[in-house]
Amino acid sequence: MSTQTGGVPVLILREGSGRSSGRDAQRNNIMAARMIAEAVKSALGPKGMDKMLVDGSGDVTITSDGRTILDQMDIEHPAAKMMVEVAKTQDAEVGDGTTTAVILAGELLGKAEDLINKGVHPTVIVEGYIKAADKALETLENIAIPVKPTEKEFLKEVAATSMASKLVAEKKEQLASIAVEAVLSVAQKIGDSYLVDLDDIAIEKKPGESLAETRLIKGLVLDKEVVHSGMPKRVEKAQIALLESSLEVKKTEFDTKINIESPEQIESFLREEEGMLKAMVEKIGATKANVVICQKGIDDMIQHLLSRKGILAVQRVKESDMKKLAMATSGKLVTSLDGLLKSDLGYANLVEERKIGEDKMTFIEGCKNPRSVAILIRGADKRFVEEAERSVHDALCVVRDVVHVPKIVAGGGAPEMEISRALRGYAETLPGREQLAVRSFGESMEIVPLTLGENAGLDPIDLLLELRTCHEKREKWAGVHVFEGKIKDMRELKVYEPLAVKKQTIKSAAEAATMILRVDDVIASGKMKAPPMPPGGMPSGGYGGMPPEY
Ligand SMILES: Nc1ncnc2c1ncn2[C@@H]1O[C@H](COP(=O)(O)OP(=O)(O)OP(=O)(O)O)[C@@H](O)[C@H]1O
Ligand SMILES: [Mg+2]
Repeated sequence: MSTQTGGVPVLILREGSGRSSGRDAQRNNIMAARMIAEAVKSALGPKGMDKMLVDGSGDVTITSDGRTILDQMDIEHPAAKMMVEVAKTQDAEVGDGTTTAVILAGELLGKAEDLINKGVHPTVIVEGYIKAADKALETLENIAIPVKPTEKEFLKEVAATSMASKLVAEKKEQLASIAVEAVLSVAQKIGDSYLVDLDDIAIEKKPGESLAETRLIKGLVLDKEVVHSGMPKRVEKAQIALLESSLEVKKTEFDTKINIESPEQIESFLREEEGMLKAMVEKIGATKANVVICQKGIDDMIQHLLSRKGILAVQRVKESDMKKLAMATSGKLVTSLDGLLKSDLGYANLVEERKIGEDKMTFIEGCKNPRSVAILIRGADKRFVEEAERSVHDALCVVRDVVHVPKIVAGGGAPEMEISRALRGYAETLPGREQLAVRSFGESMEIVPLTLGENAGLDPIDLLLELRTCHEKREKWAGVHVFEGKIKDMRELKVYEPLAVKKQTIKSAAEAATMILRVDDVIASGKMKAPPMPPGGMPSGGYGGMPPEY
């Protein structure tokens, strides 16, 4: 990039840098962002499709989770990357609604482009959008239905709604109950409200059997088997020693040579080693521990000696699991056997090895700390189990959201239609061009019911007209019944979502859209080329339309 002064070019940017500015830059960014929205549209709602994503090494992921879809796409365009951030923020804040947030942001940008083409300045649009977003949040607060934070009925419905749009939908009721039980088990009452840390819920997955075999475990599950066949496989009233160090005689760090001159010497040498190993087992025995869980390895001889004492042992347990075990059983992680005291032992009602699918896993149930739970996810194969884990994660998140902020809204596009209606009224009160921006924001909201309907094969124009009429008549929960292809009060279908998720979709989408609209200059360093206009304009959908380079 250069400029002329008195005929002499003044270089500002390094040679090879690219720049696009003004309308070009704006249009370019808007187009890239909208392509991302187009790419995820077909995944929205119970009738949405799943995506099969193949990474560089050929690994296949099947998902309809907006965040996962975008995570796995190799996206380069800076504005498109901002859309990926929308999904990430949405996921981090509330755990659901990622697809909706991205679709909304795309639509806000699409409508903004129409206004720019009509000569409305982007800063006016940005200001209008900010006001509209505030009004939208206020509208959501006004229509939200307050619930009790621990009332299982609504929590289950919210969890089931979040899974209605996933591969696991068939078993959503059962999984919803598990998610609700899990969240309520770890919820801590603080004053009048509750605090839930989802890290307290361990998730284990094991391919095999069917999704219906997914279980909530009041305790922990280790993907490990009992180390020795002679050990008990089931110990009740377990006193558990939690060892961070290995159970073996330390090998020296140097190669040493010992000259042995007689068979007696070999014997005494071996006896000495055996004596040390026995002493270690005695130390464990002295504490009356009947279960040993070790982060490192356990020597064969020690395994044998422990089995003779009727002690159950598990080795090579992940550090994170050791920490969870300590929390759950109220035991102490011990680095050296010398320091092991009876008071360091953890407690659980039952430690048992069970055969799960092809493998054996160790269950630690009825722990001292009842706030420790795990979900063991089962399902036909690895990919299915992974998608099931993502769906259970969404379900746990939405239940947590409602426990934290006990307000819900019905879904199916109903709240978005209410916002759209409220913004139509609000726009009337504003002067000039800002009015146009607020109205556009409201119209953008209609993309949610529209896409839900489109994915269910409904006629978009009829659907919208009918929905608008219902909402004008103050049928505020009228939404899309995607299975019967008609408009219905979403409360009757028990399609409920957390208020927090809906609010966050508006915040994330409005933030991304306004950020992209504010940019009117894209300067790319020498290594990258300035983004040109993608050829052929907007694609009709799918992944194919990303610009090959920018
Ligand atoms: N039975 C139903 N009938 C109509 N709409 C439904 C039903 N169940 C869920 N929905 C709607 O589907 C939408 C959610 O779809 P989906 O879960 O695919 O996307 P998301 O939550 O935005 O993103 P993600 O789950 O990928 O993070 C919400 O608008 C919700 O109200
Ligand atoms: Mg969802």
